[in-house]
Amino acid sequence: SNIPVLTIDGPSGSGKGTISRAVAARLGWHYLDSGALYRAVGVAAGWADLDLDDAGALVRCAFDTVVGFRDDAGGEPRVLVNGHDATDELRTETAGAAASAIAAIPEVRSALKERQRAFRQAPGLVADGRDMGTVIFPDAGWKVFLTASAEERAERRYKQLKDKGVSVTLDGLLREILARDARDASRAVAPLRPAEDAVRIDTTGQGIEAVVERVLALVPGRA
Ligand code: C5P
Repeated sequence: SNIPVLTIDGPSGSGKGTISRAVAARLGWHYLDSGALYRAVGVAAGWADLDLDDAGALVRCAFDTVVGFRDDAGGEPRVLVNGHDATDELRTETAGAAASAIAAIPEVRSALKERQRAFRQAPGLVADGRDMGTVIFPDAGWKVFLTASAEERAERRYKQLKDKGVSVTLDGLLREILARDARDASRAVAPLRPAEDAVRIDTTGQGIEAVVERVLALVPGRA
């Protein structure tokens, strides 16, 4: 495809979502939040009371779950799962943990592959996830791998969730984030790792605007 893609991968809390949305807005490009697809399948599996060990049922669930994104003027897009607004539920660490569990099943990943590639539409796409640069868009023109210290990532998530009124402890979050990272990095299929041609940016102690500018500077003639 000739349509340009910029991939932004990294662990949870690295700032991927915020940075990717801002970069997409500045470029006037589409935005794919691939984590939301995995979270949606995790949440739908929960609604259907599926066993997280029943790979067959989870794969069917991945094929059947309808995920829609609806722009919310200025704010984060709303995410509809099978027609229900599940935006707040998707953000919980429970949904993240379910997503990470089902994301380790190879057939679930292939079920979502074409759906993710369909987001590649003119004039361009910013794709955020774990394997955007390695598996889904290996031919992307620009690849970024964002990192940040685990402590800072836990603090960012803590603030996000507290703002949303979700009650969590910083310690508990740090533990959950480390467990999820370990699972994402050690799985056999599409493990979290930087593409060889990815530019690594450590966002620890950096403001959003500074990181957005660094990413935009990679895209020639677009900053
Ligand atoms: O990015 P986010 O935290 O929303 O992703 C939730 C989970 O979905 C991750 O922990 C990971 O296991 C999975 N995921 C994935 N591949 C992606 C995006 C997310 O495996 N491209």
